[in-house]
Amino acid sequence: MLTSIKEILTKAQEGGYAVGAFNLSNMETAQGILMAAVERRSPLIVQITESTMKFAGAKEIAEITRTIIKERSGDIPIGINLDHGKTFEVAMRCIDLGFNGVMIDGSRLSFEENLNLTKRVVDYAHEKQVTVQAELGVVPYLGESDLSEVNWKDFMTDPEQARQFVEATGADSLAIGIGNAHGFFRELENCDWDRLAEIREKIKIPLVIHGSSDWLEEKIIKAVEGGVSCFNVDTDLRLAFVHTLCQLTDDKCAITDPRNIMDAVRNAIKKKVIEKIHAYGSANKA
Ligand code: G3H
Ligand code: ZN
Repeated sequence: MLTSIKEILTKAQEGGYAVGAFNLSNMETAQGILMAAVERRSPLIVQITESTMKFAGAKEIAEITRTIIKERSGDIPIGINLDHGKTFEVAMRCIDLGFNGVMIDGSRLSFEENLNLTKRVVDYAHEKQVTVQAELGVVPYLGESDLSEVNWKDFMTDPEQARQFVEATGADSLAIGIGNAHGFFRELENCDWDRLAEIREKIKIPLVIHGSSDWLEEKIIKAVEGGVSCFNVDTDLRLAFVHTLCQLTDDKCAITDPRNIMDAVRNAIKKKVIEKIHAYGSANKA
Protein backbone atom coordinates (compact mmCIF):
# COMPACT_ATOMS: atom_id res chain seq x y z
CA MET A 1 0.00 0.00 0.00
CA LEU A 2 1.59 3.24 -1.09
CA THR A 3 2.12 5.03 2.24
CA SER A 4 3.53 8.42 3.22
CA ILE A 5 7.30 8.15 3.64
CA LYS A 6 7.12 10.59 6.51
CA GLU A 7 4.74 8.19 8.25
CA ILE A 8 6.96 5.17 7.53
CA LEU A 9 10.02 6.96 8.92
CA THR A 10 8.25 8.42 11.94
CA LYS A 11 6.93 5.00 12.93
CA ALA A 12 10.43 3.55 12.61
CA GLN A 13 11.86 6.37 14.73
CA GLU A 14 9.23 5.93 17.42
CA GLY A 15 9.50 2.15 17.31
CA GLY A 16 13.29 2.06 17.67
CA TYR A 17 13.97 0.27 14.38
CA ALA A 18 15.02 1.36 10.90
CA VAL A 19 13.69 0.77 7.42
CA GLY A 20 15.60 0.08 4.22
CA ALA A 21 15.46 2.34 1.18
CA PHE A 22 16.37 0.08 -1.71
CA ASN A 23 17.36 1.24 -5.18
CA LEU A 24 15.77 -0.58 -8.09
CA SER A 25 16.93 -0.68 -11.67
CA ASN A 26 14.19 -2.58 -13.50
CA MET A 27 10.96 -4.54 -13.11
CA GLU A 28 12.57 -7.61 -11.57
CA THR A 29 14.54 -5.72 -8.93
CA ALA A 30 11.37 -3.85 -7.94
CA GLN A 31 9.49 -7.15 -7.70
CA GLY A 32 12.27 -8.78 -5.65
CA ILE A 33 12.23 -5.90 -3.15
CA LEU A 34 8.45 -6.04 -2.84
CA MET A 35 8.43 -9.82 -2.44
CA ALA A 36 10.80 -9.46 0.52
CA ALA A 37 8.67 -6.72 2.10
CA VAL A 38 5.51 -8.79 1.82
CA GLU A 39 7.07 -12.05 2.99
CA ARG A 40 8.57 -10.42 6.10
CA ARG A 41 5.75 -7.91 6.62
CA SER A 42 8.22 -5.05 6.57
CA PRO A 43 7.56 -1.45 5.63
CA LEU A 44 10.20 -0.14 3.22
CA ILE A 45 11.01 2.44 0.59
CA VAL A 46 11.85 1.77 -3.05
CA GLN A 47 14.08 4.30 -4.74
CA ILE A 48 14.74 5.44 -8.26
CA THR A 49 17.73 7.55 -9.29
CA GLU A 50 18.05 10.06 -12.10
CA SER A 51 20.35 7.64 -13.93
CA THR A 52 17.77 4.84 -13.70
CA MET A 53 15.16 7.19 -15.10
CA LYS A 54 17.53 8.04 -17.92
CA PHE A 55 18.21 4.37 -18.56
CA ALA A 56 14.66 3.06 -18.35
CA GLY A 57 12.62 6.14 -19.22
CA ALA A 58 11.24 8.18 -16.33
CA LYS A 59 7.57 7.57 -17.04
CA GLU A 60 8.10 3.91 -17.85
CA ILE A 61 10.00 3.03 -14.68
CA ALA A 62 7.69 5.17 -12.52
CA GLU A 63 4.57 3.48 -13.89
CA ILE A 64 6.09 0.00 -13.61
CA THR A 65 7.10 0.64 -10.00
CA ARG A 66 3.76 2.12 -9.01
CA THR A 67 1.96 -0.82 -10.60
CA ILE A 68 4.17 -3.35 -8.81
CA ILE A 69 3.48 -1.62 -5.48
CA LYS A 70 -0.25 -1.62 -6.21
CA GLU A 71 -0.37 -5.24 -7.30
CA ARG A 72 1.95 -6.78 -4.73
CA SER A 73 2.14 -4.78 -1.51
CA GLY A 74 -1.31 -5.47 -0.02
CA ASP A 75 -1.38 -3.78 3.39
CA ILE A 76 2.42 -3.41 3.69
CA PRO A 77 3.46 0.28 3.80
CA ILE A 78 5.69 1.13 0.84
CA GLY A 79 7.10 4.50 -0.23
CA ILE A 80 8.50 5.50 -3.61
CA ASN A 81 11.35 7.98 -3.43
CA LEU A 82 13.60 9.87 -5.81
CA ASP A 83 17.18 9.17 -4.71
CA HIS A 84 19.81 11.93 -5.04
CA GLY A 85 17.74 14.38 -7.07
CA LYS A 86 20.05 17.24 -7.93
CA THR A 87 17.64 19.90 -9.23
CA PHE A 88 14.27 21.43 -8.43
CA GLU A 89 13.09 20.36 -11.90
CA VAL A 90 13.79 16.65 -11.40
CA ALA A 91 12.08 16.70 -8.00
CA MET A 92 9.03 18.35 -9.54
CA ARG A 93 8.99 15.82 -12.39
CA CYS A 94 9.06 12.88 -9.97
CA ILE A 95 6.26 14.35 -7.89
CA ASP A 96 4.23 14.67 -11.09
CA LEU A 97 5.02 11.03 -11.87
CA GLY A 98 3.53 9.90 -8.54
CA PHE A 99 6.57 9.56 -6.26
CA ASN A 100 5.56 10.26 -2.66
CA GLY A 101 9.08 11.21 -1.60
CA VAL A 102 12.00 13.07 -3.12
CA MET A 103 15.54 13.48 -1.97
CA ILE A 104 17.06 16.80 -2.91
CA ASP A 105 20.80 16.43 -2.74
CA GLY A 106 22.44 19.83 -2.54
CA SER A 107 25.36 18.45 -0.57
CA ARG A 108 27.93 19.56 -3.16
CA LEU A 109 26.65 23.14 -3.03
CA SER A 110 27.53 25.80 -0.48
CA PHE A 111 25.53 25.71 2.78
CA GLU A 112 23.37 28.65 1.61
CA GLU A 113 22.78 27.23 -1.87
CA ASN A 114 21.88 23.83 -0.44
CA LEU A 115 19.51 25.48 2.03
CA ASN A 116 17.79 27.58 -0.64
CA LEU A 117 17.38 24.68 -3.07
CA THR A 118 16.08 22.37 -0.34
CA LYS A 119 13.63 24.98 0.93
CA ARG A 120 12.27 25.51 -2.59
CA VAL A 121 11.70 21.77 -3.02
CA VAL A 122 10.15 21.42 0.45
CA ASP A 123 7.70 24.25 -0.24
CA TYR A 124 6.62 22.64 -3.51
CA ALA A 125 6.55 19.06 -2.22
CA HIS A 126 4.68 19.75 1.01
CA GLU A 127 1.84 21.38 -0.94
CA LYS A 128 1.40 17.93 -2.48
CA GLN A 129 1.96 15.91 0.72
CA VAL A 130 5.29 14.61 -0.57
CA THR A 131 8.11 13.84 1.89
CA VAL A 132 11.50 15.50 1.37
CA GLN A 133 14.90 14.16 2.35
CA ALA A 134 17.86 16.55 2.30
CA GLU A 135 21.59 15.97 2.70
CA LEU A 136 24.01 17.97 4.78
CA GLY A 137 27.63 17.03 4.98
CA VAL A 138 28.67 14.79 2.11
CA VAL A 139 28.35 11.05 1.56
CA PRO A 140 31.25 10.72 -0.89
CA TYR A 141 31.82 8.47 -3.89
CA LEU A 142 35.50 7.69 -3.45
CA GLY A 143 35.97 5.31 -6.37
CA GLU A 144 39.49 3.96 -6.53
CA SER A 145 41.05 6.83 -4.57
CA ASP A 146 43.54 6.06 -1.81
CA LEU A 147 41.52 5.95 1.42
CA SER A 148 44.51 6.87 3.54
CA GLU A 149 44.51 10.28 1.84
CA VAL A 150 40.87 11.03 2.45
CA ASN A 151 40.22 13.91 4.82
CA TRP A 152 37.00 12.64 6.41
CA LYS A 153 36.44 15.89 8.27
CA ASP A 154 35.55 17.50 4.92
CA PHE A 155 32.56 15.18 4.58
CA MET A 156 31.17 15.15 8.10
CA THR A 157 27.87 16.78 9.02
CA ASP A 158 28.24 19.66 11.44
CA PRO A 159 25.57 19.20 14.16
CA GLU A 160 24.89 22.89 14.71
CA GLN A 161 24.66 23.57 10.97
CA ALA A 162 22.27 20.62 10.75
CA ARG A 163 20.02 22.23 13.35
CA GLN A 164 19.94 25.52 11.47
CA PHE A 165 19.44 23.77 8.13
CA VAL A 166 16.49 21.65 9.27
CA GLU A 167 14.85 24.58 11.00
CA ALA A 168 15.19 26.81 7.93
CA THR A 169 14.18 24.27 5.28
CA GLY A 170 11.50 22.19 6.98
CA ALA A 171 13.00 19.00 5.45
CA ASP A 172 11.36 15.80 6.70
CA SER A 173 14.51 13.67 6.99
CA LEU A 174 18.23 14.26 6.73
CA ALA A 175 21.04 12.24 5.15
CA ILE A 176 24.18 12.71 7.20
CA GLY A 177 27.91 12.14 6.94
CA ILE A 178 29.53 10.41 9.90
CA GLY A 179 32.22 8.52 8.01
CA ASN A 180 29.92 6.66 5.65
CA ALA A 181 30.53 6.57 1.89
CA HIS A 182 28.91 5.16 -1.24
CA GLY A 183 30.19 1.91 -2.73
CA PHE A 184 31.59 -1.21 -1.17
CA PHE A 185 33.94 -0.90 1.81
CA ARG A 186 35.08 2.59 0.88
CA GLU A 187 34.37 4.22 4.22
CA LEU A 188 35.77 4.80 7.67
CA GLU A 189 35.95 1.57 9.59
CA ASN A 190 34.60 3.30 12.66
CA CYS A 191 31.93 5.92 12.29
CA ASP A 192 32.03 9.11 14.27
CA TRP A 193 29.43 7.93 16.80
CA ASP A 194 29.85 11.01 19.00
CA ARG A 195 28.91 13.15 16.05
CA LEU A 196 25.81 11.03 15.45
CA ALA A 197 24.81 11.54 19.08
CA GLU A 198 25.30 15.31 18.77
CA ILE A 199 23.26 15.48 15.57
CA ARG A 200 20.53 13.36 17.15
CA GLU A 201 20.48 15.70 20.11
CA LYS A 202 20.09 18.81 17.95
CA ILE A 203 17.52 17.69 15.39
CA LYS A 204 14.42 15.61 15.82
CA ILE A 205 13.62 14.49 12.28
CA PRO A 206 14.55 10.97 11.06
CA LEU A 207 18.21 10.47 10.11
CA VAL A 208 19.27 8.55 7.01
CA ILE A 209 22.53 6.72 6.34
CA HIS A 210 23.55 6.49 2.70
CA GLY A 211 26.14 4.06 1.42
CA SER A 212 25.11 1.33 3.83
CA SER A 213 25.36 -1.67 1.47
CA ASP A 214 28.46 -2.81 3.32
CA TRP A 215 27.27 -2.19 6.87
CA LEU A 216 27.39 -5.31 8.96
CA GLU A 217 24.77 -6.08 11.57
CA GLU A 218 26.77 -4.88 14.56
CA LYS A 219 27.32 -1.45 13.01
CA ILE A 220 23.68 -1.22 11.92
CA ILE A 221 22.46 -1.96 15.44
CA LYS A 222 24.78 0.69 16.87
CA ALA A 223 23.48 3.26 14.39
CA VAL A 224 19.84 2.39 15.08
CA GLU A 225 20.49 2.72 18.81
CA GLY A 226 22.07 6.08 18.02
CA GLY A 227 18.89 7.25 16.31
CA VAL A 228 19.20 6.30 12.61
CA SER A 229 15.83 5.45 11.03
CA CYS A 230 16.69 4.62 7.42
CA PHE A 231 19.52 2.90 5.50
CA ASN A 232 20.02 3.35 1.77
CA VAL A 233 21.14 0.32 -0.18
CA ASP A 234 22.15 0.15 -3.81
CA THR A 235 25.52 -1.55 -4.49
CA ASP A 236 24.67 -4.74 -2.62
CA LEU A 237 21.56 -5.29 -4.75
CA ARG A 238 23.47 -4.53 -7.94
CA LEU A 239 26.07 -7.12 -6.96
CA ALA A 240 23.41 -9.73 -6.16
CA PHE A 241 21.90 -9.05 -9.59
CA VAL A 242 25.15 -9.22 -11.56
CA HIS A 243 26.66 -12.19 -9.71
CA THR A 244 23.51 -14.26 -10.21
CA LEU A 245 23.38 -13.32 -13.87
CA CYS A 246 27.06 -14.16 -14.43
CA GLN A 247 26.81 -17.50 -12.63
CA LEU A 248 23.96 -18.56 -14.89
CA THR A 249 25.31 -17.27 -18.15
CA ASP A 250 28.86 -18.52 -18.62
CA ASP A 251 30.16 -19.79 -21.99
CA LYS A 252 28.39 -23.10 -21.63
CA CYS A 253 25.06 -21.54 -20.73
CA ALA A 254 22.27 -23.89 -21.76
CA ILE A 255 19.39 -21.69 -20.61
CA THR A 256 17.25 -20.64 -23.53
CA ASP A 257 14.52 -18.79 -21.63
CA PRO A 258 15.60 -15.41 -20.20
CA ARG A 259 12.75 -15.63 -17.73
CA ASN A 260 14.58 -18.44 -15.95
CA ILE A 261 17.59 -16.18 -15.49
CA MET A 262 15.53 -13.20 -14.36
CA ASP A 263 13.58 -15.36 -11.93
CA ALA A 264 16.86 -16.32 -10.25
CA VAL A 265 17.95 -12.67 -10.22
CA ARG A 266 14.67 -11.61 -8.65
CA ASN A 267 15.04 -14.26 -5.95
CA ALA A 268 18.61 -13.15 -5.24
CA ILE A 269 17.38 -9.57 -4.74
CA LYS A 270 14.59 -10.80 -2.48
CA LYS A 271 17.05 -12.82 -0.38
CA LYS A 272 19.39 -9.86 0.02
CA VAL A 273 16.56 -7.51 1.02
CA ILE A 274 15.29 -10.04 3.57
CA GLU A 275 18.76 -10.11 5.19
CA LYS A 276 18.70 -6.32 5.47
CA ILE A 277 15.14 -6.24 6.81
CA HIS A 278 16.21 -8.48 9.68
CA ALA A 279 19.29 -6.40 10.44
CA TYR A 280 17.22 -3.20 10.52
CA GLY A 281 14.60 -4.74 12.80
CA SER A 282 11.71 -3.88 10.46
CA ALA A 283 10.27 -7.39 10.03
CA ASN A 284 6.67 -7.64 11.25
CA LYS A 285 6.42 -3.88 11.71
CA ALA A 286 3.82 -3.45 8.97
O1 G3H B 1 21.59 6.51 -2.31
C1 G3H B 1 21.95 5.33 -2.36
C2 G3H B 1 22.75 4.75 -1.33
O2 G3H B 1 23.41 5.68 -0.60
C3 G3H B 1 23.43 3.51 -1.70
O3 G3H B 1 24.77 3.39 -1.33
O4 G3H B 1 25.55 1.89 -3.12
O5 G3H B 1 26.83 2.13 -1.00
O6 G3H B 1 24.64 0.97 -1.03
P1 G3H B 1 25.50 2.01 -1.61
ZN1 ZN C 1 23.21 7.76 -1.54
